[in-house]
Amino acid sequence: MKEKKEQLTTAGYKGTRDFYPEHMRIRNYMFNVMRAVVESYGYEEYDGPMIESLDLYRAKTGDEIVGKQIYDFIDKGGREVAIRPEMTPTLARMVAGKLRELPRPIRWFSFPNLWRYEQPGHGRLREHWQLNVDIFGVDSNSAELEILKLACDILIAFGANKSMFQVKISHRKILDGFFQGMNLDPSKAQEVSKILDKKNKITHDEYLAEIKKTIPNLPDADKSIDAFLSSSLVTLDQIPGISSELIDEIKDFFAKIDKIGLGDIVQFDPSIIRGFDYYTGYIFEIYDSSPKNKRSLYGGGRYDNLIGLFTNDAVSGTGFGLGDVTLQNFLETHDLLPSLGREDIICIPILSEEITAEIFLMADEIRKSGMKCEMFLNPDQKFGKQISLAEKKGFKHILICGPDELTKGIISLKNLELRTQIEIPRSELVPRLLQEFNGKKI
Ligand code: HAM
Repeated sequence: MKEKKEQLTTAGYKGTRDFYPEHMRIRNYMFNVMRAVVESYGYEEYDGPMIESLDLYRAKTGDEIVGKQIYDFIDKGGREVAIRPEMTPTLARMVAGKLRELPRPIRWFSFPNLWRYEQPGHGRLREHWQLNVDIFGVDSNSAELEILKLACDILIAFGANKSMFQVKISHRKILDGFFQGMNLDPSKAQEVSKILDKKNKITHDEYLAEIKKTIPNLPDADKSIDAFLSSSLVTLDQIPGISSELIDEIKDFFAKIDKIGLGDIVQFDPSIIRGFDYYTGYIFEIYDSSPKNKRSLYGGGRYDNLIGLFTNDAVSGTGFGLGDVTLQNFLETHDLLPSLGREDIICIPILSEEITAEIFLMADEIRKSGMKCEMFLNPDQKFGKQISLAEKKGFKHILICGPDELTKGIISLKNLELRTQIEIPRSELVPRLLQEFNGKKI
């Protein structure tokens, strides 16, 4: 009896992603649109390693990621290493490494593949890609203005309108001031801010229980926290602990936001916390207005001291990460993903072995003229079968040329969608194809 062979599963590791060609087309489309906008602002692309020393993240990435979500291991040399859960520490290390040589402001972007041990769900996976855009060496809030404008321009470049998304901003020092006003010591303040950061991910009762457990000696803490979280720019001065200079600075910033035309989409929202320890100034998240996508699309802010982990020079950075999972959910929800088929490729079925070389040359001519062309390679397949394969592969146009057509010097161009066909002399094939498609690369 034949022994049953144990087979491996085709399923990937939980929360990771196989990008089949149809998924790759979407990823490439999204990256291309993002890249065009970011480069139009003068940002330059960089990349770094997938693995870093664990210490790099221990320093400022924050407890939630380092304590629970990081993929870390000991390498063969006994070193503690981690697969990157975010790009900002690598970026800070790279910028610090060449700080003196780099003309400022430094404007860099990257598309890292990141890993976090999260519970996979809508908008959250263990593997995601993230556009990172950061500017270094600008101390004024012009850096935030540019970064926010650029972030909005990306969504607009995908065809979004301003009602489809909301930018929510706060300032790290607002939260610090509020905690000081409550007389919380720094470690308690840190614990409470972590609870506030996950407030929307747990039930209200769980939230209240955690607050009571963390600061039992402040029985009315939840009420002051509620008042703080619902404060607006107008009521901010009623919160003890927040300086009037900071309030003036924030008002000035919002006046600039208005002037550059973003007033209707950017809101002040003190419930924006951001879990990373490195942020020191403005922090922001961008959300889909549709309730279908609750996870933020973008997260970012200003970090003044991250470079200081590596050098005595102080250079502030401001930037954001935009995740591909949430972006794709956004584009699908608002019907903004174009059809990314293979209509632009001319397909040539092969009708006989003996004309293979002629078809190779014809395909070559078509490609050299800037058009795309895929030829079939199995002449034993019936013509009808090749046509249905061409349709299945998403092609819109095929060229029909068997030995007879080649002898007569006539080739037919068939539109598979409309079921129409025209004849083209072989000698005029490329110019006629170019003309047929209005001179566009089809
Ligand atoms: P973050 O908020 O952790 O920030 O991530 C930014 C965005 O990446 C999120 O808003 C979300 O779209 C996406 N994202 C994060 N984790 C996941 C996940 N597990 N699955 C799918 N998407 C995810 C940072 O990482 C900061 N380092 C960004 C930054 C750059 N700040 C300054 N410069």
